[in-house]
Amino acid sequence: MKGIGIPWILLVVVSLLCFLVSSSAFSSTGLSDAEAARIRRRQLLSYRDEFGDRGESVRVPPSFKFPNDRLRNAYIALQAWKLAIFSDPKNLTGDWVGPNVCNYSNVFCAPLPSNASLIVVAGIDLNHGDIAGYLPEELSLLADLALFHINSNRFCGIIPHKFERLKLLFELDLSNNRFAGRFPDVVLRLPSLKFLDLRYNEFEGTVPKELFDKDLDAIFINDNRFVFDIPDNFGNSPVSVIVLANNRFHGCVPSSIGNMSRLNEILLLNNGLKSCIPAEIGRLKNLTVFDVSFNELVGPLPDSFGGMLSLEQLDVAHNLLSGAIPKSICQLPRLKNFTYSYNIFTG
Ligand SMILES: *[C@@H]1O[C@H](CO)[C@@H](O)[C@H](O)[C@H]1NC(C)=O
Ligand SMILES: *[C@@H]1O[C@H](CO)[C@@H](O)[C@H](O)[C@H]1NC(C)=O
Ligand SMILES: *[C@@H]1O[C@H](CO)[C@@H](O)[C@H](O)[C@H]1NC(C)=O
Ligand SMILES: *[C@@H]1O[C@H](CO)[C@@H](O)[C@H](O)[C@H]1NC(C)=O
Ligand SMILES: *[C@@H]1O[C@H](CO)[C@@H](O)[C@H](O)[C@H]1NC(C)=O
Ligand SMILES: *[C@@H]1O[C@H](CO)[C@@H](O)[C@H](O)[C@H]1NC(C)=O
Repeated sequence: MKGIGIPWILLVVVSLLCFLVSSSAFSSTGLSDAEAARIRRRQLLSYRDEFGDRGESVRVPPSFKFPNDRLRNAYIALQAWKLAIFSDPKNLTGDWVGPNVCNYSNVFCAPLPSNASLIVVAGIDLNHGDIAGYLPEELSLLADLALFHINSNRFCGIIPHKFERLKLLFELDLSNNRFAGRFPDVVLRLPSLKFLDLRYNEFEGTVPKELFDKDLDAIFINDNRFVFDIPDNFGNSPVSVIVLANNRFHGCVPSSIGNMSRLNEILLLNNGLKSCIPAEIGRLKNLTVFDVSFNELVGPLPDSFGGMLSLEQLDVAHNLLSGAIPKSICQLPRLKNFTYSYNIFTG
């Protein structure tokens, strides 16, 4: 139990907040006293697992038959999730009833890649559901999940530790929800993950530098409350898109950025970055969008900008950049939009 004290308190605060947010959502939809009492009883039935993550007790009716154990587990996971949902205004989970989970709306089944004779739950897409609730630890029973998309809902709390069991998870989109707390380290332990979208939540604290050593194709962590110095291993990341905008990433743009050969778009705007823009930037031949506006970058724009032959959009506005704008930028063959206002350029 060593070291569990503080996170536990945080969890309690987070779940209290969760409850307050969802109860205020109820009052606007006019919940009857009986319904409110039922929900309060439900809240008491949830439990904490060994990590302090919340779960729900689901009983499988003995009459239910499942084609395989994976679909039985999926039933438990989805029913637990239904219990952890306080409000589903579009009724997206309304037909999550009975043993045929592959017939549930917004749940997608497919043959298991390693054994095509097994049908499993491979994807969940509840995007734009406006659903309020939390993610119970039972969701980790969806061991064959490749896609998990829940953007634009009102899920709160944290990402359960047991998500590390989702060994096939390829796309994780939790954007535009109310998740809080520290960076969900569990995503670093998802071996198949390629697409990570945590933007527009309330995550805070630092971002582990291991994120940039992970074999990801896209990282969106913008519009949170991360506070962080961009580490030197940033350039190890093989991403094609990375968006860190609107956090408080301080420090320098590391010269290792020149090693990100697959990079197509990078948005670092509004973070409080200090330092110069390193000359290595010119090695990014495939970069089409580069936005470092609204920071505190200093020094001249390096002449090597001319090397970014694919560049279409370049925004360096609202910094403290100085010197002359290199001619090589104006000669970039694909440049469509170059914004450089609010600096101290000469000439
Ligand atoms: C939600 O959907 C289920 C199943 O489709 C239906 O039985 C139920 O009446 C719906 N509830 C509301 C409030 O529309
Ligand atoms: C799934 O739904 C379809 C159409 O509603 C129905 O024909 C089919 O029998 C259902 N499958 C199962 C296994 O319940
Ligand atoms: C695939 O799954 C089926 C059904 O569970 C099982 O009988 C079979 O042995 C499995 N095949 C392999 C190659 O694991
Ligand atoms: C770029 O990658 C090379 C080869 O992996 C490595 O030797 C070098 O140190 C890296 N540059 C930076 C600035 O990290
Ligand atoms: C850069 O883009 C070209 C053309 O789209 C592509 O063929 C090439 O593989 C890309 N390079 C890298 C390192 O991704
Ligand atoms: C150019 O980019 C800036 C910000 O990056 C944007 O405000 C502006 O509308 C763009 N201009 C055009 C013509 O697309």
